[in-house]
Amino acid sequence: MNAVEVQELRRVYRAKMGLMGRKVKEVLAVDGISFSVNRGELFGMLGPNGAGKTTTLKMLTTLLIPTSGTASVLGFDLVKQAKAIRPHIGFIYGGERGLYWRLNAFDNLRYFANLYHMDPDHAAKRIPEMLELVGLGGRGDERIEGFSRGMKQRLHIARALLHDPELLFLDEPTLGLDPVGAREMRNTIRDLQGQGKTIFLTTHYMFEAEALCERIAVIDKGMIIALDSPQGLKTHVNDLSVVEVEVFGIRQEALEVIRKLKGVETASVENVDQKQILQVQSPLGSETVAPVLRVLEERKLRMGRVTVREPTLEDAYVRLVGGDT
Ligand SMILES: Nc1ncnc2c1ncn2[C@@H]1O[C@H](COP(=O)(O)OP(=O)(O)OP(=O)(O)O)[C@@H](O)[C@H]1O
Ligand SMILES: [Mg+2]
Repeated sequence: MNAVEVQELRRVYRAKMGLMGRKVKEVLAVDGISFSVNRGELFGMLGPNGAGKTTTLKMLTTLLIPTSGTASVLGFDLVKQAKAIRPHIGFIYGGERGLYWRLNAFDNLRYFANLYHMDPDHAAKRIPEMLELVGLGGRGDERIEGFSRGMKQRLHIARALLHDPELLFLDEPTLGLDPVGAREMRNTIRDLQGQGKTIFLTTHYMFEAEALCERIAVIDKGMIIALDSPQGLKTHVNDLSVVEVEVFGIRQEALEVIRKLKGVETASVENVDQKQILQVQSPLGSETVAPVLRVLEERKLRMGRVTVREPTLEDAYVRLVGGDT
């Protein structure tokens, strides 16, 4: 039996429009996705803003009823047996909501332990352990209104682990954490998998997905457009090279011209410090360099280093979701 089994899952939201909210617009957030997650697997879902990741997780954690399709979680039917699923799963949704700001960390966890019907003696032992695990040992008696965003995120993870669930859903678990905190969180996630837990996470960070996940589903506009191991996803860009140019002050117009050059698949710009990095994917490799530089020179743009490199998983992702940013 798989940990998660999803068939043709769909979810439509009815969003109210206008000042009075009289008009209703239908938003197709998840558009008939099918996939499964193996027991003990660390499975990732990756996709741009609004792709449908959180909606998928909310359905699988029984917080949101699917519009159509079927799914089972740990062998239980998502809709008909939602109650049976809940004791076996834990979840976190990024952000600061869902905690009680006027209570300290310890009492917050005690509140949830109560909600999960945990034995109070067991909870009293488990809560400090969980605080320790997420790096909040010694801070349990502080009111969380004084906690930083990252500390609240850690507390959320502690909360999700309280009842020792076998399946964890983590929506952007490293959101808002500093680089060291994010690394520790990734280690925690790996450890949890090492303890035999199944983990389903979403992220915007390609390197994070690559570093953690055995398989990654790439979702865009509510549809799964690729599902493979990180290595497998990279084969989508086997045929490409990436030309990178440091450039100052490039505008949309130049980018449009570059996108129309022979062989160019995608062109995007990323701001790094004071400069911009133009990245152009092309099967023509170094042959693309001269025409790209000509476009920049014609616009009298100052340039820095130019490199041609092998594509990364991030390039595979950019190719899959279009990369027209
Ligand atoms: N409560 C809601 N009412 C109406 N539309 C919604 C609601 N929640 C989400 N949507 C819409 O559903 C789509 C998918 O949203 P979802 O939050 O699942 O995306 P996501 O992949 O988690 O994005 P992000 O990376 O920004 O977190 C979006 O178009 C969003 O606007
Ligand atoms: Mg989301």
